[in-house]
Amino acid sequence: MPHHDHRSIPCAPGRVPVLGHATALLSDPLGFIGSLSRVGAVVRIRLGFRTVCVVTDPALVHTLLVGLAHDCPRGAVQSTLRTAFGDGLLMSEGIAHRDRRRSLQPAFAAERVAAYVPVIEQVTRERVARWHHGQVIDVAREMNHLALEIVTRALFGARLRADSTVAFHRALPDLVKGQIVQSLYPHPLLGRLPLPVNRRFDAAVRVLNHVVDQAVRGDHGEGTLLSLLRSATDPSTGEPLDEAAVRSEAITMFGAGTETVSTTLTWFFHELLRHPGVYERVMAELDELPGGGPAKDGGALTAGDLERLPYTGRVLREVTRLHAPNAFLMRTAAKDVALGPYRIPAGTELLYSLTAVHRDPAHHRDPLRFDPDRRHADAGGGGAVERHAFLPFGAGKHKCIGESFAWAELAVVAATVLRAWQPLPVAGSRAREVVWTTVQAQGLSMALAARTPRGPATPEAAEATP
Ligand code: HEM
Repeated sequence: MPHHDHRSIPCAPGRVPVLGHATALLSDPLGFIGSLSRVGAVVRIRLGFRTVCVVTDPALVHTLLVGLAHDCPRGAVQSTLRTAFGDGLLMSEGIAHRDRRRSLQPAFAAERVAAYVPVIEQVTRERVARWHHGQVIDVAREMNHLALEIVTRALFGARLRADSTVAFHRALPDLVKGQIVQSLYPHPLLGRLPLPVNRRFDAAVRVLNHVVDQAVRGDHGEGTLLSLLRSATDPSTGEPLDEAAVRSEAITMFGAGTETVSTTLTWFFHELLRHPGVYERVMAELDELPGGGPAKDGGALTAGDLERLPYTGRVLREVTRLHAPNAFLMRTAAKDVALGPYRIPAGTELLYSLTAVHRDPAHHRDPLRFDPDRRHADAGGGGAVERHAFLPFGAGKHKCIGESFAWAELAVVAATVLRAWQPLPVAGSRAREVVWTTVQAQGLSMALAARTPRGPATPEAAEATP
């Protein structure tokens, strides 16, 4: 196939002078990015003075992440964030990335994930034990506190002070907003000006650093991510990693491994509340577990138990399809590359949206319908395009290192919460889709009814007391 010149990549409609497509992108990010697949497989958009190419076709997203991984690093986009986050896995490239990834991988191996299961369950049990019958919870907030505590205790073997958990949750929006604004600034130096968004971002980074201080302080036992980091060596020097490197990796894990999970869990509860039939089937499966059933308090979960929850697993997969947390991820062409029929010149910034790929009607029938019985191609069957059209954890050498940890965490939290409490809708409350770097579920409240030996509580049983 002939390689066309860069200019033959179609431009998105609706461009206005100076701002280009920035207003369309900011006012309805998913609607705008989602509309681009009708324009082309790769589409040019203008953000102020910058041109960004949006890759909409799943097969080309796959090529970008796998075939072109070497030539299209994350590059320029994230370098503005390096000052705040250091050189962790998320920021590094090339050999440094490969070596660091190898030294961290054992913390996410199957037997380690199995060992985290009781810790995740314990942390979740402690949190749900604080809830009371009839209470109305802010789901996103509770799930965020929980996810933070799980990363701290499972991966770092440490404990956070309660005020740090609260401060972290409060700082998150500023962290995320600052990140996206800094990535989309027309000039990186604007990220350093004392604008309110930058000041709040810096304050949020200080909170994050404070959390990391508590996580990395001391030696918290064998087999944790922290002990691996402390025993890892820098291949270029043969010396142990210095404290700055250890902290960078810790920051990366908190940054990449809390909000993604808590957002997914919030959407999970949102979908259960809207689909009572799905809830019933999940509960039927949970009640079949050893020690299960509403009359029992539920035995301790093991990694083996998770395999007995295939339906719950499908529900969670469908949540990650419809509500893939990563709305925007970027790469930069380090040299001229061919992407399908297009020639992409060196220096071009490339954007892809897993959320948009997962909602593309060309690849998913009735894409906005929540349907756990939908066949996700990676569970068997389906052609190459279908396989590429479901990739909540990305692909290639930067594919999520925490994937199996995340699946275990999602299932254990779901099971532990639902064995103790029946979630009930609260009139007038619904999840609003708010897009920053992740697609958040804001504003969802749910009421809790204790699951008693008399069987599941009825909605009337829970008198919602805000
Ligand atoms: C539902 C939960 C999660 C989702 C959907 C998710 C998704 C992703 C995606 C799409 C990427 C690739 C980004 C890119 O290509 O630029 C990624 C990378 C990463 N994720 Fe996750 N993630 C989740 C949970 C976690 C957890 C629990 C951890 C750690 C505890 C984690 C740690 C990381 C790290 C360190 C990277 C960078 C990997 C590298 O560059 O080599 N994630 N994640």
